[in-house]
Amino acid sequence: MSRFWSDLASQLTPYVPGEQPKAERLVKLNTNENPYGPSPAVLEAIAGTSASELKRYPDPDSSALKAAFAEREGLTPEQVFLGNGSDEVLAHTFQALLKHDKPLLFPDISYSFYPVWSELYQVNYQPVPLCDDFTIDVDAYSAPNSGILIPNPNAPTGVLLPREDIVRLLGAHPESVVVIDEAYIDFGGESATALIAEHDNLLVIQTVSKSRSLAGMRVGAAFGQAPLIEGLVRVKDSFNSYPIDVVAQRATLASLADEAWFRQCCDKVVATRERTDKVLRDLGFAVLPSAANFVFARHPGHDAAQIVAALRQRGIIVRYFSKPRIDQFLRISIGTDEEMDELFAALTEILAM
Ligand SMILES: Cc1ncc(COP(=O)(O)O)c(C=O)c1O
Repeated sequence: MSRFWSDLASQLTPYVPGEQPKAERLVKLNTNENPYGPSPAVLEAIAGTSASELKRYPDPDSSALKAAFAEREGLTPEQVFLGNGSDEVLAHTFQALLKHDKPLLFPDISYSFYPVWSELYQVNYQPVPLCDDFTIDVDAYSAPNSGILIPNPNAPTGVLLPREDIVRLLGAHPESVVVIDEAYIDFGGESATALIAEHDNLLVIQTVSKSRSLAGMRVGAAFGQAPLIEGLVRVKDSFNSYPIDVVAQRATLASLADEAWFRQCCDKVVATRERTDKVLRDLGFAVLPSAANFVFARHPGHDAAQIVAALRQRGIIVRYFSKPRIDQFLRISIGTDEEMDELFAALTEILAM
């Protein structure tokens, strides 16, 4: 607390990210990173950065990178916006597109940054409860609203909303901006980007942090019709003209060019997720069906917070949310098979205690 803080700074409840531990020997399954690392071509691109590139400001429009994303998604560069991680893209979206008189609707259990941005930008919002089985019922988004924001697959549940439901949602709310946060879409879902041509109110947000194993690079993207993208650019150019640095532009371009590495890593994560689902069920856990690179699981006979603490003592960290409805769940990121084997051995020991 300081007397120099603004009222806004005093009243904020900032987002608390998952721990990034300093100790090396931890099995880190708490922030949905991808264990395989980026394509070797990414490291070459980073190493190839020259002094003359670094001494200049980067291209403020990240034109080459925008063109590469556009080509991959079957869009034009005017339909692509880039930011410093999808967190920044989302933050700009709150300011540019979601702040209106009527409330913004998002699921009561979803990315815990959404209420934080709502508070920061003073966006009036209304949480919409997930169904008892943690699925999203798009018909529950019936309250008057100016925007709807849905992570798909949802976080922290991992549950996927089928594309036909998104089509129904878009049809029912032509006057609202519908934002689909696809941070985890590459692990089993079908992107909504194909719907952009027909819907001027759809914005799809993606990241290279998860499926491309570039969380350290901080690059996120939004896809939508040009007028929506223009709104984001207006906010970006009033905040930071150069959100993507020279190295991040090079690295992400190289990542997009290596489709084989990308597919191979996603396939490995999905195979390990399926194995994890089975082993956890065999250990007595109830596991939600996941289309992401994590699973959300609870054990009917053991307290989740106690399991988390016991795992921590054994050098394994997973994510725990002390929140209504989900305080008996563990969110476990999918690591390598060896890391998951360590987790299964530790859980077997803990559950036998
Ligand atoms: C649903 C969701 N959206 C967005 C993000 C932000 O990702 P990044 O800022 O790394 O692109 C995360 C990160 O965990 C997430 O879970």
